[in-house]
Amino acid sequence: MDDWQGRIDTLRERALAELEATADPDALEKWRIAYLGRRGALTEALRGLSALPTEQRPAAGAAANETKRALEAALDKHQTAARGQVLTRALENERVDVTLPGRPVSRGGLHPTTIILRQITSFFQSIGYQVVEGPEVELDKYNFEMLNIPANHPARDMWDTLYVQPPEVLMRTHTSPMQARVMESTEPPVRVIVPGRCYRYEAQDATHEWMFYQVEGLAVDQGITMADLKGTLFAFARHIFGPKVKVRFRCDYFPFVEPGVDMGISTPEIKGGDWLEILGAGMVHPRVLEMAGYDSSKYTGFAFGMGPERIAMLKYGITDIRQFYANDLRFLEQFVS
Ligand code: PHE
Repeated sequence: MDDWQGRIDTLRERALAELEATADPDALEKWRIAYLGRRGALTEALRGLSALPTEQRPAAGAAANETKRALEAALDKHQTAARGQVLTRALENERVDVTLPGRPVSRGGLHPTTIILRQITSFFQSIGYQVVEGPEVELDKYNFEMLNIPANHPARDMWDTLYVQPPEVLMRTHTSPMQARVMESTEPPVRVIVPGRCYRYEAQDATHEWMFYQVEGLAVDQGITMADLKGTLFAFARHIFGPKVKVRFRCDYFPFVEPGVDMGISTPEIKGGDWLEILGAGMVHPRVLEMAGYDSSKYTGFAFGMGPERIAMLKYGITDIRQFYANDLRFLEQFVS
């Protein structure tokens, strides 16, 4: 007599013993294929039962099926346990220690030009100026004509101009065209400050960039004098460079002001107190007022224009203006506060 019962029992014992020693999900899957898979040992055994005499088959079949269910149930239990273990291990390994200090976030900072621009504009806002901006692509009319610089005037050589569509459309060479634009579109009194980019066809070196910022100022009203210009700019210099700063005005020439000056500052903290020019200024030329539609017998005004990079260079001891827009983080990160 074929000992089918013995074979099934042996198989079952071996399978269960092996299963006991199997813990991880991959090994469990291998075990499943080895015993319960389509070519697995139990499947083979079931197939073998067809060789038994007919009267033995039902009992043998039932026993084999019962074994199959038992193995499946055992596998299921082990799989559940294995999954639980994998999860527990992951939780253990990936546990977050909330008491550890966090990794520092690398913070951005303001560009040195932005820092200075904000200092400049906030000072002028505090004394009643409005901040306005104008187009960087400008017309010859505003960049030159309305500033008392007619075509072929030799003063045009002071501004090395980049033309977009010659002769009428150009990149503004200074923020002064906004003097004309503001006066053209508003009535006095005027108090404006105009920060913005300017462009010049320039051979670059440590003190010249082809793109840079300017901050223009314009005040027009009845009875404005040179004393107002000096008082305003002195207060400004103290705000930026501290209470020890001294200022000096010297004659200078710009076609749109009369008289024209340059302002220098001196403070013991910078370059041993040497005089340093930081801006051009003057009383708005009567012709500029008239061209913009203001009555120059009734109104007077002053204007000034400064280079914020220059001021930043003095304040921070920067020696090369080309560093401002070279996008080198080693330079820029020094200003993160
Ligand atoms: N726009 C002049 C420049 O670019 C500066 C300036 C502005 C001078 C306003 C006088 C008055 O050099």
